[in-house]
Amino acid sequence: MSYKKIRNAADLVMNNCGPAEIAVILGSGLGGFEQVLKQPIEIAYEDIPGFPVSTVPGHAGRFVVGTIAGKRVLVMAGRFHSYEGYSMKQVTLPVRVMSLMGVKTLIVTNAAGAVNVSYQPGDLIILSDFINFSGKNPLRGKNMDKFGPRFPDMTNAFDRELRQIALLEGQRLGISVKEGVYTWFNGPCYETPAEIRMTRILGGDVVGMSTVPETIVARHCDMKVLGISSVTNMAAGVLDTPIHHEEVLAAGAAVRESFKKLVTAVIETMPMPELVEM
Ligand code: HPA
Repeated sequence: MSYKKIRNAADLVMNNCGPAEIAVILGSGLGGFEQVLKQPIEIAYEDIPGFPVSTVPGHAGRFVVGTIAGKRVLVMAGRFHSYEGYSMKQVTLPVRVMSLMGVKTLIVTNAAGAVNVSYQPGDLIILSDFINFSGKNPLRGKNMDKFGPRFPDMTNAFDRELRQIALLEGQRLGISVKEGVYTWFNGPCYETPAEIRMTRILGGDVVGMSTVPETIVARHCDMKVLGISSVTNMAAGVLDTPIHHEEVLAAGAAVRESFKKLVTAVIETMPMPELVEM
């Protein structure tokens, strides 16, 4: 999609909902977070030109823009996954649109399987880094120079200061938060036990089928990114039981309240980008 078309989509969302400085992408079973927004205004993906429509049960399809502690927040309720058949450009189009709406900070969330055996379902993991096991990259093709450089740095894919704030706010709220490395497999099948053993050897702590493309594009647009995984199951082979999508959704729903509290507290606490520069 051309820069002009992305600009048109962003202008349409802004004309309907206003601008935003912070965005939150909701993962499987974490829906409902948009209810914490004050004065919410929403727009369905089908009303945004060029937007694909999400096909997975548990994923709605709309942007909701409102405020938390006076900060303008866009919640993306329903994301696009590569395993649904969307191209990398489609999966990450919403992040480009957010960037043109003024978003400087992205909180990206997901449901994930625990590779690290010291984790358990219900834990919230603040992502310290990622491993891309998909063989895909959303920046492949001609670089869009207006957004960022050809070879963006990924040294601090997940922002140090935001990670620190999330860990401290988790402790303060009495929520079990840990740090770990997210590993992206394309899906849609869950991983094999051998793939999970490999992931553990290579330094991955959680596995999932999202988050990395959005994070790469957000960093390309020079946004700060905070990633949070909700552990819904032990990854394949850790326990002697199969993994079912329904259980993943139910486990995600069980942590909805603590997730909501943590993300709200992080947004309340994070410095405002405009104010930092003054
Ligand atoms: N693997 C990949 N994605 C997931 C998992 C998993 O075990 N659990 C939730 N999303």
